[in-house]
Amino acid sequence: MFSSTPFVLSFLLLLSLPLLFVLAPQILPPKDVPLPHPDELDDLALFRKATLASSSSSSSRTRSTHSHLGTNTNPKPKIAFLFLTNSDLSFAPLWEKFFHGNRHLYNIYVHADPSVKITPPGGVFQGRFIKEARKTERASPTLISAARRLLAVAILDDPLNSYFALVSQHCIPLHSFRFVHNFLFRNTLSSLKDVFSSPFLKDQSFIEILSDDPNLPDRYIARGDNAMLPEVPFEQFRVGSQFFTLTRKHALLVLRDIRLWRKFRLPCLNIDSCYPEEHYFPTLLSMEDPKGCTHYTLTRVNWTDSFDGHPHLYAPEEVSAELVYKLRESNSSYSFLFARKFSPDCLKPLMEIADDVVFRE
Ligand SMILES: *[C@@H]1O[C@H](CO)[C@@H](O)[C@H](O)[C@H]1NC(C)=O
Ligand SMILES: *[C@@H]1O[C@H](CO)[C@@H](O)[C@H](O)[C@H]1NC(C)=O
Repeated sequence: MFSSTPFVLSFLLLLSLPLLFVLAPQILPPKDVPLPHPDELDDLALFRKATLASSSSSSSRTRSTHSHLGTNTNPKPKIAFLFLTNSDLSFAPLWEKFFHGNRHLYNIYVHADPSVKITPPGGVFQGRFIKEARKTERASPTLISAARRLLAVAILDDPLNSYFALVSQHCIPLHSFRFVHNFLFRNTLSSLKDVFSSPFLKDQSFIEILSDDPNLPDRYIARGDNAMLPEVPFEQFRVGSQFFTLTRKHALLVLRDIRLWRKFRLPCLNIDSCYPEEHYFPTLLSMEDPKGCTHYTLTRVNWTDSFDGHPHLYAPEEVSAELVYKLRESNSSYSFLFARKFSPDCLKPLMEIADDVVFRE
């Protein structure tokens, strides 16, 4: 009986060998996946907090809204304006005019690259710079992360934030705040009393989603020939403007995503075709909820004679009432609400036509 023990032991050892092969990949990190950067761990915690808070607040909101029935609180849905910038907010005075008198209908959040010295604009922007901001760089996934941080902070900050409009320091409004708010919530109930039957939370996101761009093949293989597979086959790869206006439902969808982010965060091998932020959001939303998106953006941009991936930069002498009317025009049944790109010295001529032209309607 005793003499069989060594045999049993070695037999067990032999048995455990294949187990080692099964477990090894889980014990040792796989070679091709980069370890998460500390910033990325902070992001993951933030995004998780936002999605969890949102799922618990919808049930607690049922109770609080019911208790408000019959009272006059009647809160209206808000627009979260997400400013993504790496330089001064030169058009802050124009935006200030835009927001004026609508305090209960919007919130502002600014993601400013902390490695750049930026003059704080004060006014409605005071205290609105988010502490979660990190360095952002062109041709890298940092612009995706910055947009997601803005979405997460805005979700956590105010349950009334119902649309999330991403803009940059070069964007200007083309209409009054009232016009923008009415446009976004046009077919919707204005009261949150009926939040669970209200169509506004289920309304569409305004995000450009294109599948016929001639640059798509080069952009798709920017990280290597099969780098996007199997999560993103070429047939599902999309492009669109970086500047979107998302519903709360889609903001949460973006914050929950890990699968596509693991692909889009990979560094590009071909920097000339590297615009991750123009692909991540349109691809994700087109895969997850194409019918929930308009497929067009609300931000007008002029790509005529574009250079090095930069669109036309409007100069002060181009600013006029006619330009504003022209920029509003689209080919469909809506008007553009925002436009880019304007050079900082356009502020003066824009302020001169603000009341009579830009914010007239
Ligand atoms: C677009 O930019 C071009 C110059 O690159 C300019 O000639 C044209 O007028 C601009 N279009 C609009 C609508 O501003
Ligand atoms: C409208 O469509 C025409 C033709 O496709 C195009 O040249 C023009 O740029 C479009 N205008 C806008 C505002 O999208």
